[in-house]
Amino acid sequence: MFVTHLTCTSCRLRHDWATLQNLCTACSKPLFPVYDLAAVGRILTREALGSREKSLWRYREVLPLPGDLEPTTLGEGGTPLLRAKRFGDVLGLTSLWVKDESQNPTQSFKARGMAVAVSMAKHFGATKLAVPTAGNAGGALAAYAARAGLEAHIFMPSDTPRANIIECRELGAHVTLINGLITDCGAEIAKRKAAEGWFDMSTLKEPYRVEGKKTLGYELAEQLDWELPEVILYPTGGGTGLIGMWKAFDEMEELGWIGSARPRMFSIQASGCAPIVCAFEAGEEVASEFPDAHTCASGLRVPKAVGDFLILRILRESRGGAVMVEDADMIEITREIGAAEGLFVAPEGAACFVALKQLVRAGQISVDEQIVIFNTGSGIKYLDCYNS
Ligand SMILES: Cc1ncc(COP(=O)(O)O)c(C=O)c1O
Ligand SMILES: [Zn+2]
Repeated sequence: MFVTHLTCTSCRLRHDWATLQNLCTACSKPLFPVYDLAAVGRILTREALGSREKSLWRYREVLPLPGDLEPTTLGEGGTPLLRAKRFGDVLGLTSLWVKDESQNPTQSFKARGMAVAVSMAKHFGATKLAVPTAGNAGGALAAYAARAGLEAHIFMPSDTPRANIIECRELGAHVTLINGLITDCGAEIAKRKAAEGWFDMSTLKEPYRVEGKKTLGYELAEQLDWELPEVILYPTGGGTGLIGMWKAFDEMEELGWIGSARPRMFSIQASGCAPIVCAFEAGEEVASEFPDAHTCASGLRVPKAVGDFLILRILRESRGGAVMVEDADMIEITREIGAAEGLFVAPEGAACFVALKQLVRAGQISVDEQIVIFNTGSGIKYLDCYNS
């Protein structure tokens, strides 16, 4: 086990890793685990990874679980990076790829974060786990909590896609529907958690979901033979995957596995909920709460993200950007992607394809660049969005 401590992403205050932690005790910003990467590098090489299991646990040395701890697992990670040749050809793109996260347990990339965070919460003695969710994180928590023998208390907006609600209930979770948004769900947990004995599993409000999500970055590098792509398009709600990948890139550089080049990172949001796009365009360092948030891409319906300052810093440092797209365009392009590539993508993933067209048209991405889109979930969970 190579974690040395947790550090605050804002004030840098050091925190003990060996106990349940939420936000920084001084400034209420997210905490990141820090690893002794010199020690990792002495025992783990890129070459050694090749013979390991095809899951995120192949990166065990850069994950926070103590060495003898059995993870709570359903086989998460190890998803394919697929060439999207037929869709790319139409736009004249020479190297378009899709990281297909719908192939995770519970059909979304939320499985990565929850596998690691539930394993850690159980290790530190939590028995009741609570989460506010736009949908997919609830399904993932319900599954991993069930597997770990822990209680899951899930708070979701009452208009969350039906598949997410049913899935959580059928996985044995306690589900509360809130007449409001994910931020209202989070406020309800904050109000009740002390009395109820719940551990708050909100993304970036505990230190380990981001560690599971960062394996997106490790996998991508390994699948591209340790050369990162030039452009990444990421559907951004709380931004944990984007933030996690950026952390992974820094760790891999310190390990000597990759160089200093970084992809241009683009956050894709829905026009009905685009706090990061607005803040990026206004040159702000933090994002204001987006009023009256609405979109069928429920994972993007996050009006205020605790890691907003981290997302905005990454977009600027990488010389990337932020793009908003219309719901109708996400739904319309889904069939185009499906018919060309054989993937029934989630609206969040579809949003990236719409944004890709806009960015290519605007000359912000050139046709010969290597581009990776994250399809973070499956269209199967969003049948309510389709007429046919
Ligand atoms: C399918 C899907 N894509 C994207 C997101 C946004 O993820 P993040 O919080 O990492 O920005 C979510 C979050 O609920 C989601 O369910
Ligand atoms: Zn702090």
